[in-house]
Amino acid sequence: MNFKTIIEPFRIKSVEAVKFTRREDRERALHEAGYNVFRLHAEDVLIDLLTDSGTGAMSSAQWGALMQGDESYAGSRSFYRFRDVVRDLTGFKHIIPTHQGRAAERILFHTVLHPGQIVPNNNHFDTTRANIEVEQAEALDLVIPEGRVPSALHPFKGNVDLGALERLLAEKGDRIPLVMVTVTNNSGGGQPVSLENVKGVRALCDQYKKPFFLDACRFAENAYFVKLREPGQGDRTPKQIAQEMFHLADGCTMSAKKDGLANIGGFLAMNDDGWAEECRNLLILTEGFPTYGGLAGYDLEAIARGLEEVVEEPYLRYRLRSIEYLAEKLIAADVPIIRPAGGHAIYLDARALLPQIPPLQYPGIALANALYVEAGVRGVEIGTVMFGLRPDGSETPGAMDLVRLAIPRRVYTQSHIDYVAEAVIHVARHRETLCGYRIVHAPRVLRHFTALFEPLSRS
Ligand code: F0G
Repeated sequence: MNFKTIIEPFRIKSVEAVKFTRREDRERALHEAGYNVFRLHAEDVLIDLLTDSGTGAMSSAQWGALMQGDESYAGSRSFYRFRDVVRDLTGFKHIIPTHQGRAAERILFHTVLHPGQIVPNNNHFDTTRANIEVEQAEALDLVIPEGRVPSALHPFKGNVDLGALERLLAEKGDRIPLVMVTVTNNSGGGQPVSLENVKGVRALCDQYKKPFFLDACRFAENAYFVKLREPGQGDRTPKQIAQEMFHLADGCTMSAKKDGLANIGGFLAMNDDGWAEECRNLLILTEGFPTYGGLAGYDLEAIARGLEEVVEEPYLRYRLRSIEYLAEKLIAADVPIIRPAGGHAIYLDARALLPQIPPLQYPGIALANALYVEAGVRGVEIGTVMFGLRPDGSETPGAMDLVRLAIPRRVYTQSHIDYVAEAVIHVARHRETLCGYRIVHAPRVLRHFTALFEPLSRS
């Protein structure tokens, strides 16, 4: 018998109760949070889909590994175990632990960037963009045109537009210190990048003599998409595919809070000796000694084990299927989402769902807030609030107005996901009751985290 049901490839040994709240409690909590779900107390959230970052469940093997942590300041055994696992996977010469992905980004960009330079990527994640802009350089998005259209079906919507990259390298190559590719492409919908596309980027980087770095947060999900969708890749293991992808690059930044299956941690890895030395110097200044980089020895153990578990096929099959399952339910109810489903999240197309709310009145905020009030589900706006503020202080609509429902790894069961689908469909059916927002207070960078909003009354 060939079973069709893809089950969670684990059983549950320890549980954490969720708190049920009433609608009026949630209305009050959201009001007190300045209508910004980032400012809610997490215990007032029933199903938390704010992020898949650091929110996963660790395995019993990872919890066991924690006890093996060697907390020596220098040369800890846990560092060498971590280094060996990362090196086996990536092949990179220098492995520099950091407390999370953005620390790796900051150290890399502060070391290699000069004002006026340009860093191309398929789509920069918000911290990547901010860490480039803070060095007065430009973060340029070069995803293929299909990657900008939520409804466009394409197996690798995260691919880089190689023609655009080649033009950029030909015209402004002297201003480009490195080329990046994000796998999977989070800001573009958690969409994968094909191995063929990564090879294309590699060839251009060779031609123009540029280093090539991966933003590898979700490398394993990307590798499994390659296995499923790319001709000729079906018989390879996810690990083999991931290894090939890393071997095509010269370095990577990594948040181990995603495909490291850990609650904290990350790394910067590269082959270049000179850059690595400079990065380590900066690491010592702000993060810690190069064999711990701001992490405890037990964190390094958890990441090492997590990187082994994340490429296991039963896990990845379940992981991608659980996202696709939610997508299928929403598509069947005509809720507009980015298609096909990404690797870690569903992206609701708030701009399409709420045509009565113009982008500068933040349809993504309206939708995220409605999901919280109606059902206690927390998602996050990825749109005009996150990306609409220019360095000069002016505001333009983001490329899309989305609400991301990110699924933490190994945390929620199928009935939780059924509830989420019911909640989204309920809000979509009452879409005409939603109104826009205005910002009453916001910081100058990464404003989405702390901005305060006010609902605009319905006209
Ligand atoms: N790059 C990508 C593609 C990311 O998705 C993230 C984090 C980072 C870099 C930064 O890593 O959080 O460890 O510093 N993304 C989280 C998210 C926050 O919710 O998508 P970090």
